[in-house]
Amino acid sequence: MKYLIDSGDTEQIARICDYYPIDGITTNPSIVAKAGKDLKTLITEIRAIIGHEKMLHVQALSETADDIMEEAKRICDFSGENTYVKIPVTVDGIKAIKNLHKKGYKLTGTAIFTPQQAMLAACAGADFVAPYINRLDNISTNGIEIAENIHKMLSDAGLDTEVLAASFSNVEQIHMTAMHGVTALTISPALFDKMLYHPLTINAVHEFIANGSKYYNI
Ligand code: G3P
Repeated sequence: MKYLIDSGDTEQIARICDYYPIDGITTNPSIVAKAGKDLKTLITEIRAIIGHEKMLHVQALSETADDIMEEAKRICDFSGENTYVKIPVTVDGIKAIKNLHKKGYKLTGTAIFTPQQAMLAACAGADFVAPYINRLDNISTNGIEIAENIHKMLSDAGLDTEVLAASFSNVEQIHMTAMHGVTALTISPALFDKMLYHPLTINAVHEFIANGSKYYNI
């Protein structure tokens, strides 16, 4: 499983990277706005925390294919190695993915709500496709089922594109998405802690300490 942090909160990114097995960070324009920092400043700060081995997904904000392609170059110039340019799967977005892929860019098709959007992004050359699980659930569509369909379609077609499931609001959505074959998840810092929490684990640890401390003179 690849775990990514969906956040621009640098304190939380540092904390989660310190404690959890993390493969990368995903950001989007709303996450950048929430951080309240200029994109370049934020990305530089995130890179200082995570280095260049971990993936960093940075979204283009432009709307036309030509502008997205220009922006992708600027994003990669300041984001460095192992940067994935996130591009929403609009008509112009798909054209930009297709052309940027030919130039060797690492790409993530984002804001995905249907399997065919994901398939077109994958065929255009996206390395990852990001369906929005909770936003699908919020319109009475089954986000997990859509993610599973995308995963199955990509694997049936023999494509290397990975599903990077995004937009989770609870642990059950994360668990069910993982149960249905998805192997990359981007998760908010608060949900990482919730994934691990169980009162019986805490009780067990307290019990071990109460019983064993006297005998652990090491
Ligand atoms: O990475 C995409 C994700 O940030 C969207 O999540 O919680 O705004 O639906 P959300």
